Amino acid sequence: MAIPEVFIQELLNRVDIVDVIDSSVPLKKTGANYSACCPFHNEKTPSFTVSPTKQFYHCFGCGAHGTSIGFLMEYQGLGFVDAVHELAKRVGMVVPQETRVIDKAAEQAASGMQEVLQLALHYYRAELKKSDNAIAYLKGRGLSGEIAARFQIGYAPSGWQNLAGVITNYQSESLAAAGLVITNDQGRRYDRFRDRIMFPIHDQRGQVIGFGGRVLEGGDDDAGPKYLNSPETPLFQKGYELYGLFLARRAIREAGKVLVVEGYMDVVALAQHGVEYAVATLGTATTPYHITKLMRQTDNIVFCFDGDAAGRKAAWRAAINALPALTDGLQLSFLFLPPEHDPDSYIRAFGKSGFETALTETLPLSQYLLQTLAEENDMQTQEGRVRFLNDAEPLLKQIAAPKLGLLLRNRVAELAQIAPGEMESVMKLPQPGKPRPQAPARIPRKPPTLARKLIRMVLLRPDLAQKLPRSWIEGKGAEFDFLDALLQLVAENPALATNTLLELLKNRVPFDLLKEVSAEVMEVDEDFEFEQEFEGALQQLRASAERRELDVVLQIAQERGLRALTPEQKALLQKFRR
Ligand code: UTP
Ligand code: MN
Repeated sequence: MAIPEVFIQELLNRVDIVDVIDSSVPLKKTGANYSACCPFHNEKTPSFTVSPTKQFYHCFGCGAHGTSIGFLMEYQGLGFVDAVHELAKRVGMVVPQETRVIDKAAEQAASGMQEVLQLALHYYRAELKKSDNAIAYLKGRGLSGEIAARFQIGYAPSGWQNLAGVITNYQSESLAAAGLVITNDQGRRYDRFRDRIMFPIHDQRGQVIGFGGRVLEGGDDDAGPKYLNSPETPLFQKGYELYGLFLARRAIREAGKVLVVEGYMDVVALAQHGVEYAVATLGTATTPYHITKLMRQTDNIVFCFDGDAAGRKAAWRAAINALPALTDGLQLSFLFLPPEHDPDSYIRAFGKSGFETALTETLPLSQYLLQTLAEENDMQTQEGRVRFLNDAEPLLKQIAAPKLGLLLRNRVAELAQIAPGEMESVMKLPQPGKPRPQAPARIPRKPPTLARKLIRMVLLRPDLAQKLPRSWIEGKGAEFDFLDALLQLVAENPALATNTLLELLKNRVPFDLLKEVSAEVMEVDEDFEFEQEFEGALQQLRASAERRELDVVLQIAQERGLRALTPEQKALLQKFRR
């Protein structure tokens, strides 16, 4: 991020988020805030809230949140810099050139990587046009030139150092960091992708962050793996990215669902036949991050993996990994194809209508879980049912969604032939909790921790940070890391307000924690007694800092006697003696 943070704050002070959002998503005034049905997930009652005073938005349904900048990024799919420019244009401000030095190295590395990836993409696409072989291969797989162009499919020709002719400095750090070259034992570089069909992988803003390369049958690299992917790089993390998501965004919203498949070719072939709402995991299991990411687009996720044993295994892993991300509003289901098919072959055989017919008969996650567990154990015997309960226990524990959790528990009890009430005595499950009519995020699961209170207060009143001695903050864990990141931002730049702080924290703290904090911040109202609350929190901090100090003092006293103590240490001891 090359744009100075103060400028971002000035910009956000100048634009009004209510105008920015209202022009795309009409807002209604509700009390102090504005609301609408969330544009980032499907819903019927509005939980998307915009605060005119705090100048940011938060959706209590899906957790989407951010400033005017964040809104443009999410809604229009703009990059951060583009979103800043777009907003600046609206209010007639000029975006200054980069002035910061601190993160320069990281920024340059990232932009260097982006640049070489972009150059490579251009090159591979141009090479596809020149290769009859590669074109014939794609045609043979039923792809039109139009679809190839839409997915920016390319071709990496044979040869070891083709990229040397494309990128001026073949020895550049960026080239290696982006995963485009491999260095051998002698320190010589060569291209990672040779004689392969190239599928660029885009991030959510449409920038290329990596590639998948498929061998041509009988090609030079036919002995290598069928698909070669870019390695994990700072830009490309497989557990977070989904192939095709950028292109599929609109279709996902229109269809009201997303289809998750296993392969590049599945996504492309489905699109070729008019099913444009498919994305693929990138040769990895579906992670909870994938699910959370998809939940921001739709509340109906259908997994459609290959019909073979590997596909079934992938489906099971997806189901297990989805458990922590489940919410009561989310529909998650599975489409099992016949063993000889994958989505690509299936849609080629049966067409769009055949595929969509199959889609009407998906297996809901809960049924799939129970069915699989019941199949794996002999439910006719007591021992089998005990094993079934043992298998079900860890899965049930991961489900936070109250209604779904309750229903599943009851079903498990029923299948195991025990009364629902008896479940608690055989399993140590968290209480299911009463089903909540709406917006579970509004109801805090547990009272806020001290760190959490401090985060909230400093976010809303950054000036309070001055009264917070860094040395008192010595807790461990994500919340304290969060608090630390926040205090550092405030210390570097005391002019930042809540919205900019939240925006800047996006790259520095865990996504889920930020989502929760953002919801809490949205809910603090104008008459919150900051001074008093802050004083209370300070006292708690001071007390625990003193307790830590006391341990040290006692240690010294024990080892070297009371004489070794400083007057302050003695005073502390006195204080606790009383
Ligand atoms: P599949 O082997 O099912 O390939 O791998 P596919 O998509 O049907 O490929 P085609 O139809 O033969 O072209 C599914 C996905 O697993 C990853 C890729 O992401 C692939 O799309 N994969 C597979 C790899 O990463 N490496 C491999 O060697 C094979
Ligand atoms: Mn296939």
